[in-house]
Amino acid sequence: MLARVENLRVRFPTPQGWVAAVRGISFTLGREKLGIVGESGSGKSLTARALMRLLPRHAEITANRLEFDGIDLRDTSERAMRAIRGKRVGLILQDPKYALNPVMTAGAQIAEAWAAHAGGGRRAALRVALDLLAQVRIRDPRHVAGLYPHELSGGMGQRVMIAMMLAPDPELLIADEPTSALDATVAAEILRLIEDLVSRRGMALMLISHDLPLVSHVCDRVLVMYAGRVVEEVAAADLTRAQHPYTRGLLGCLPSLAKPKPMLATLARDPAWGEP
Ligand SMILES: Nc1ncnc2c1ncn2[C@@H]1O[C@H](COP(=O)(O)OP(=O)(O)O)[C@@H](O)[C@H]1O
Ligand SMILES: [Mg+2]
Repeated sequence: MLARVENLRVRFPTPQGWVAAVRGISFTLGREKLGIVGESGSGKSLTARALMRLLPRHAEITANRLEFDGIDLRDTSERAMRAIRGKRVGLILQDPKYALNPVMTAGAQIAEAWAAHAGGGRRAALRVALDLLAQVRIRDPRHVAGLYPHELSGGMGQRVMIAMMLAPDPELLIADEPTSALDATVAAEILRLIEDLVSRRGMALMLISHDLPLVSHVCDRVLVMYAGRVVEEVAAADLTRAQHPYTRGLLGCLPSLAKPKPMLATLARDPAWGEP
């Protein structure tokens, strides 16, 4: 098992008192593709970031269990975390603009990411960078390697980001809304790329999105989050048999060509779903 999370809780101090953002999440993750779905603010990003211990400094985090590959992340030193973060677990975010260094070329950043872990020389690192750019299906790796982040389109930036994350050959890739900032066609390409690389390298994937159909298309299993809790866990193949009204709501909002509805349903919410 790559990750084991039991009763994870994250809360923040506010002038009005503590605000709980993640309220007792449990899941396990093997070498599989796990989706996390839920509306904005439901605690998806915090849950994923807890696994890398990348939470805001003022956040209070507790868990009965928080493990990556048997390592207890609750009391791991910052130094030991750096050997996991970026090396054994890669993180792809929505916007490559904030993750890429604006004053370094794409090629130099990928080369640096590889050299930091593999420790090879400059020439070897550049060769690896070109190979990784080709693996993320960039047609002219040599040209793109010489570009700065502001010279890259959204889709290209995301490909460079993915190449950089693959450089240390991680065991788990966390993709947090990786395509939300992209046009639909580019988003589909990037998603197919992620899916393909994950399968070919035998990595585990945690794919976070508010888009249930998209996630169920890529993943084996989906956790549906609502207000800091997992309200349902379903095998992607069984999604149409989902029980929880919130999950059914997420599905019911979809337009269907086979069975057109006069009007699309709006998503109803029940405060009781967030109760303990
Ligand atoms: N730095 C922070 N300070 C205070 N509250 C935060 C912070 N980050 C997140 N939160 C709270 O946690 C909730 C869940 O955040 P997040 O995990 O980012 O949601 P999601 O990724 O599902 O959109 C947010 O709605 C917000 O109320
Ligand atoms: Mg988020």
